[in-house]
Amino acid sequence: MADAPGRPSILISRALPREAVELARRRAQVDIHTGDTPLARPELIARLRARQGLICLITDAIDDELLASCPDLRVVANVAVGFNNVDVTAATRRGVVVTHTPDVLTDTTADFTWALLMATARRVVEADRYVRDGKFQQWEYMLLLGGDVHGKTLGIVGFGRIGRAMARRALGFGMRVLYQDAMAADAASERELSATRVDLPTLLRESDFVTIHTPLLPETRHLIDAGALRAMKKTSYLINASRGPVVDEAALVQALQEGWIAGAGLDVFEEEPVVHPGLLGLTNVVLAPHIASASHDTRLKMATLAVDNCLAVLEGRTPPTPVNPEVLSAPRR
Ligand code: DGY
Repeated sequence: MADAPGRPSILISRALPREAVELARRRAQVDIHTGDTPLARPELIARLRARQGLICLITDAIDDELLASCPDLRVVANVAVGFNNVDVTAATRRGVVVTHTPDVLTDTTADFTWALLMATARRVVEADRYVRDGKFQQWEYMLLLGGDVHGKTLGIVGFGRIGRAMARRALGFGMRVLYQDAMAADAASERELSATRVDLPTLLRESDFVTIHTPLLPETRHLIDAGALRAMKKTSYLINASRGPVVDEAALVQALQEGWIAGAGLDVFEEEPVVHPGLLGLTNVVLAPHIASASHDTRLKMATLAVDNCLAVLEGRTPPTPVNPEVLSAPRR
């Protein structure tokens, strides 16, 4: 179908909430892929080639080769706070604005990460399975004993928006909060959240729960490796709702099998959607399919923000949440 003149043309790479798609349709020519699986790369490129905007998900790899094949593209609006699926350096070099969806998902993501932490420590999934399997024949004093959460030490790796939202939740549980981050939080935030900055070895050694909230960067890939897992307490738990490759999954399997740590809660995996087979057979790990931001309200807010970002760039306005704002002030290609 020929695009109407004067209106920007955008591709939405996967189905999004209807309200967000309608918002895009009011101001742009929209091609949307509504299939069950991500667009195969050749089709993604073919459908994007003559368009100016892309609204995409973390399952779309937006690299230099794709950007080179789509010379009209001016904005990549990722519907996620993380943007490790986008080569931002290449986009910046080619004058393509990249945007993401921070803030709107912070508390929803922290809520779920907290749920994962609680479920892991208190063995909620095992307990559910026990009842469904008809094993609850009598009350037992020593059944399914877990780890306490209240009063324990929470170690937060990556003290950005979501890390701090975890610290806020920990206050309600009377926990001691340690954090590790390249940048120190300001003194007022540290005071408000009762959080103390330490180095990673100290955090691993002293925490009862280690929760990961760092972006995936070359320097954070396998940040939690065999050495880190061995440094943790045998009674401690690892929680990851950031990006899978921050944790060496093979090492984690060994740690869980051999009791280097007590358990883990994982919302993300190294090779999503593939899950290390070793994890599937273990009872001391709770697994989720990368759903930490998946509430009705938040997924709508994320999609709407991505549409706003995309349309803003194409209509010559400043997008609300750019990743590479320097492109906005650079002369057009
Ligand atoms: C994000 O926003 O980065 C999540 O991982 C996907 O919602």
